[in-house]
Amino acid sequence: MGTNIVILTGAGISAESGLGTFRDEDGLWAQHRIEDVATPEGFARNPDLVHAFYNARRSNAAEATPNAAHHALAELEAELDGTLLIVTQNVDNLHEKAGSKNVLHMHGTLDGALCAACDHRWEAPPVMTKEDPCPACAAPATRPDVVWFGEIPYFMERIEQALDAADLFVSIGTSGEVYPAANFVAHADHIGAHTLELNLEPSAGASRFAEVHLGPASEIVPDWVARELAQTRS
Ligand code: OAD
Repeated sequence: MGTNIVILTGAGISAESGLGTFRDEDGLWAQHRIEDVATPEGFARNPDLVHAFYNARRSNAAEATPNAAHHALAELEAELDGTLLIVTQNVDNLHEKAGSKNVLHMHGTLDGALCAACDHRWEAPPVMTKEDPCPACAAPATRPDVVWFGEIPYFMERIEQALDAADLFVSIGTSGEVYPAANFVAHADHIGAHTLELNLEPSAGASRFAEVHLGPASEIVPDWVARELAQTRS
C-alpha cells in the first residue's frame, strides 16, 4: 500500500535556481502587469509583448539547473514506499530535469506551444512569435501553452482524485494567493490527510496547515525528505 503524497510546488522552489518568483519584492509582478502578460485579453491587445515576456522566461528556464529541493523530491519519488504526485504551478521544467517522473503542470509549461485557433499543441521553439503557423491548421495564432488568469488550470480532475486519496499534502514555495491551488490544503485537510507547508515565510494560507516549516527550499525540503525516507526505511 504505502503512503500517498501529493506535493504542490510554486515559484519559491525554483528561486534558488535563479528563476524569479512572482510576488516577492523584486518579483515578476513588480516588473510586469498581470493584465498585460498573463491574460487572454493582454495577448489579444499586444501579442508581441506577451511573446517577448515568455521567450525571455523560456530562455532563463533553459539555462537554469535544479537545486537541492528539486533533487530531494526526485529522490523521494524513487525511494518512497507509496505514490508521489507533484502538482506544480511552475512553467519551468526543473522537476523533470531533476528526475521526477510523476509531475502535472497545472499552469502549463514554457516547453509547449498552443494554437489559439484549433487548440493543437506542439513543442515550443526557443523563440515563439504569433506569426508561427500552426503545424495542424496553419493559422498564425501561436501562443505559449501556459494558463493565464481567467483560464481553467489543467489536470483538475486528476489532481482532485489524487487529493481524495492523499495521506499527506505538502505545499512548497507558493504564496497561496492563486486559486484553485490555494484551496488544495482545505481539500486535503477535509479528507483527513496530514498537511505541511514548506516556505520561506508563512504563506497566505499558512494557518490552514497542520505543520509549517520555514526556510529556503534548498535546505528545508531535503531535511523533510530525509525524515520521510527515514520513516519509509524503518
Ligand atoms: P509567488 O511569487 O506568489 O510566491 C512565491 C513564494 O515562494 C512566496 O511565498 C515566497 O515567500 C516563497 N519563496 C521565495 N523564495 C523561496 C525559497 N528560496 N525557498 C522557499 N520559498 C521561497 O509564486 P507562486 O505561489 O508560485 O500563475 O504563484 C502562483 C501563481 O501566480 C503562478 O503559477 C503564476 C502566478 O501569477 C500564473 O501565471 C497563472
